[in-house]
Amino acid sequence: MLSSQDADSSIRLTDTDAALARLSAVKKGYLQDPYIRHLVPRPHLQPPRPPLINIGTFVRATAIDDLVFQWLKNSTKHGTRCQIVSLGAGSDTRFWRIATGAHKDALAAYIEMDFQENTTKKAMAIRKSKELSAVLGDPADVVVAQGGTGLSSPTYHLLPADLRLPPADTLGRVLASESGPILSPTLPTLLLFECVLVYMSPAASSAVLQWFRDYFSSDGSGVLGSIVYEMFRLQDSFGRVMVDNLKGRQVSLPGAAPYPDNASLPGRFLNIGFTAARALTLKEIRKSYIPPEELARISRLELVDELEELDLVLEHYAITWGLFVPPSASPTEWEQWGLSVKVTAPVDEDEE
Ligand SMILES: C[S@@+](CC[C@H](N)C(=O)[O-])C[C@H]1O[C@@H](n2cnc3c(N)ncnc32)[C@H](O)[C@@H]1O
Repeated sequence: MLSSQDADSSIRLTDTDAALARLSAVKKGYLQDPYIRHLVPRPHLQPPRPPLINIGTFVRATAIDDLVFQWLKNSTKHGTRCQIVSLGAGSDTRFWRIATGAHKDALAAYIEMDFQENTTKKAMAIRKSKELSAVLGDPADVVVAQGGTGLSSPTYHLLPADLRLPPADTLGRVLASESGPILSPTLPTLLLFECVLVYMSPAASSAVLQWFRDYFSSDGSGVLGSIVYEMFRLQDSFGRVMVDNLKGRQVSLPGAAPYPDNASLPGRFLNIGFTAARALTLKEIRKSYIPPEELARISRLELVDELEELDLVLEHYAITWGLFVPPSASPTEWEQWGLSVKVTAPVDEDEE
């Protein structure tokens, strides 16, 4: 029988897969990200991932970037700055990409959370890398926090937390503490869950979302958005193969149980009082929600001959986004937030 510590170490290791997939997509020219190589050991020696994985990584990253940039732009349009909280952030580089990009002034706070083993590793990598630490600002303002397991700077905060624990003890303690909350309930705030809730029970995931919803509905006027990216539809034959493969690596996916099909996905948000929610599979996103010039560009990067398999993989991953507009907030632009169709004609498969 697997001890819970071993099971957790397998979950933590999924971050290595995510980081290597991103590095591979960057090296092959699918994505631009000068920061990921500072968070992966010996990046020049890491072998590329197969084209199917690179394309999946590209589709997911492009769509999530689209949602995040819309959030930053909406905040600016409303004359306010916003907060982003990335839960199970692992080695993600989004903070650095935003903080050095066109929308950097829109960011009031960027908070990352993960198991303490992963935040400790990331805090060390940040301190070791000039490129990463320079973006955090004046070194005098960067504080190693929580006994070396976290970091705090004027905008960026890296915090250890096990998201399965009761949110009042974890999120409440670190984000909302009375000694000075890191998270303001009055600013538009976007939660990112990229491939993390699927490793937790549905009850624990709902408790996390509910905690944020309550935090923003209590005294706040800040609009709350949330993006979840992960696998679903694991009850069909392809899904069962995915589950068995991961079981072989001691990883289980309890969080996928309530989501057997596309229609079930928005319920994650709507069942706990979010105002609106929508979901799209990566297959749908690749076909219609990526700018055509980008699709044409990536079709020239690598030869892909397993198009049916690509579709089969992509229809088992989805991006679901939900919006909560507290009664005292003005909805206006926020209700338009979401992915929009970029291609009305189907992708020309012969070009790929
Ligand atoms: C597949 S990785 C994804 C990392 C990152 N979000 C990305 O997309 O590149 C999953 C991450 O979620 C974290 N995670 C999973 N369960 C967690 C929990 N209960 N508490 C905190 N972090 C968790 C893991 O440690 C890991 O870093």
